[in-house]
Amino acid sequence: MTDFKKLEDFDFNGKKVLVRVDLNVPVANGEVTDSTRIERLAPTMSYIIEQGGTPILLSHFGRPKGQVNKGMSLSVVVPAIQKAFGQPVEFVDTDWTDVSAAKEQIAKGAAGTIYVMENTRFHPGEEENDLELAKRMASLGDIYLNDAFSSAHRAHASTEALARKLPSGAGRAMEAELSALQAGLGNPKKPVVAIVGGAKVSTKLDLLENLLTKVEGLVIGGGMANTFLHAEGVDIGKSLCEKDLAETARRIYDKSSDENCAIILPVDGVVAWHFEANAPHRTYGLEAMDKEGMILDAGEKSIERIKGAIDEAKTVIWNGPLGAFELDPFGHATIEVARYVAERTKQGKLVSVAGGGDTVAALAKAGVVQDFTYVSTAGGAFLEWMEGKPLPGVEALKA
Ligand code: 3PG
Ligand code: MG
Repeated sequence: MTDFKKLEDFDFNGKKVLVRVDLNVPVANGEVTDSTRIERLAPTMSYIIEQGGTPILLSHFGRPKGQVNKGMSLSVVVPAIQKAFGQPVEFVDTDWTDVSAAKEQIAKGAAGTIYVMENTRFHPGEEENDLELAKRMASLGDIYLNDAFSSAHRAHASTEALARKLPSGAGRAMEAELSALQAGLGNPKKPVVAIVGGAKVSTKLDLLENLLTKVEGLVIGGGMANTFLHAEGVDIGKSLCEKDLAETARRIYDKSSDENCAIILPVDGVVAWHFEANAPHRTYGLEAMDKEGMILDAGEKSIERIKGAIDEAKTVIWNGPLGAFELDPFGHATIEVARYVAERTKQGKLVSVAGGGDTVAALAKAGVVQDFTYVSTAGGAFLEWMEGKPLPGVEALKA
């Protein structure tokens, strides 16, 4: 945490400050539908402006694959930015091949204006981490800040190469994220319980392997749990399952006992016969699963076991829902456990850190986002961090 510069380490007065932010926000009918990522930038924006600097925001938006695509223009977020920061905002159109017009536009601006540059991914050099593009970006400013933890797993020109071209440091949101993550897994209060859910083991193998070596309890839920149950010989009927990963699941199980990590699997399941909201359902114990049914959520006995594990924990980290939370009522286990973690956090009994798109949506459904110690807005970056991988966007700030 101390190995890179923070806002206080710079003099922003009269300086143009390139800030890598993550404006990859959900948009429907031309409007931003969730501005959490934007709102979290407010402390960095107000600090720069108060100190007399001019923020110039750089971000990707969607995946235009190196082509100018007006359907993915960042101009769409300008009203939301104006609303969040209460400052004049100017959009700067560019295809990133020649930034001279952009430079002129920024030079003309009034003090206190926030500039939003066009989508960095309109140029192929962005995803190639191209040095020439990074140089053109650097020519627009004097200082570089990265305030986009959620893009830090990408080694792109605006997240990696650019950090090496200018004096660089972390914005407030990045700093807050990294210190929360440090409290969650870097240097946590023990015992630590990790809750990992979601559909597939195959996308979370590295995650499970890393967590085993770091946590005392590992709750496995959601569709992923079925693969583990199948590997243990449980007949899970027509439940989602990666049968070809049974051997891998057994290996993870064996490794967990070597590492003194307790794996906590469901002991019952809420079974339905159709994958749809409000489908008729019934809870079964593992010994008597219905062969035609699918497990869509963890049952009450499983929820009690998970709560028991949480009672022991001083730190809880969470990625992935425990059931098909997007279909009512199969979000029940996720919501119950989320509220329990939130309650214990409020009582000061544990530190709770959660992240990932589905996880945040599930916590929002449970109404507890504010009650967790920290909820990351990052998807892939949160996962890679939990996997123990270095994040190029963070590493570049240290250089
Ligand atoms: C995200 O939304 O998770 C980040 O902005 C990264 O987007 P990407 O997966 O398209 O790189
Ligand atoms: Mg993503």
